[in-house]
Amino acid sequence: MNREELGRVLAYYRDLGITELYIRPGLSGPGQAMLAEEPLSKEPQEGSLFAGMELPGLAAGDDTLEKIRADIGDCTRCRLHQGRTNIVFGVGNPQTKLVFVGEGPGEEEDLQGLPFVGRAGQLLTAMIENTAKKEGIPLKREDVYICNVVKCRPPQNRAPQPDEMEICGQFLFRQLAALRPKAICALGGTATKALLGKKEGVTRLRGSWHKWRDMPVMVTYHPSFLLRAYNVVPKREAWEDLKKLFHFVYD
Ligand code: SF4
Ligand code: URA
Repeated sequence: MNREELGRVLAYYRDLGITELYIRPGLSGPGQAMLAEEPLSKEPQEGSLFAGMELPGLAAGDDTLEKIRADIGDCTRCRLHQGRTNIVFGVGNPQTKLVFVGEGPGEEEDLQGLPFVGRAGQLLTAMIENTAKKEGIPLKREDVYICNVVKCRPPQNRAPQPDEMEICGQFLFRQLAALRPKAICALGGTATKALLGKKEGVTRLRGSWHKWRDMPVMVTYHPSFLLRAYNVVPKREAWEDLKKLFHFVYD
């Protein structure tokens, strides 16, 4: 990789909001620890650590889910690795027009290595398929892509902490950039915070369009919240949010 190509790769990652690079052991030579400390805003200089360095799997513009998964590897970049059984990368159609983003794996997801397969996941599947059916849109769960902000289960299902969201969020951002869906659905507060960085909560932000980079984002309630909610108002609102989302994406 020459200097211009490397510069483009770094600019691409900076645009994605990635400010630190983590190089997998075995993929680069001496100096990798120092490279990991370098902020991306540093322009590659002749004779610097960047010059002539190969960055496998970090090609600008042609990132793929396979490369991202390979870069995650057997990740120990944040403390959440300590309690996990499986990394939960994401599942669904890589050609999808619609991506759902949750918070992080729960117990069942951690055991199976798949997102949204527990109780909240069953509700999400029903919400997707039943809403689409009522609206006359032939959409199944396997037609969309589903992933989370953090890929490892937080202990006792606690919310991911800001540093964990920031570190693992790099992989979410790369997934979204590689998938380039027509719209993204943020499920609950953690996904909303990770994608929009706003201080308002889901109740304020739901039901209208926002943006992550150039991609439209619809915010709605997390299915776990809907499972706990006593009254029917949030359930009706989530249904309205999905209707709006599906018509935008599939009409
Ligand atoms: Fe790595 Fe993400 Fe798991 Fe943290 S949550 S260990 S960053 S894969
Ligand atoms: N809750 C989430 O946020 N994600 C899952 O994958 C499962 C439950």
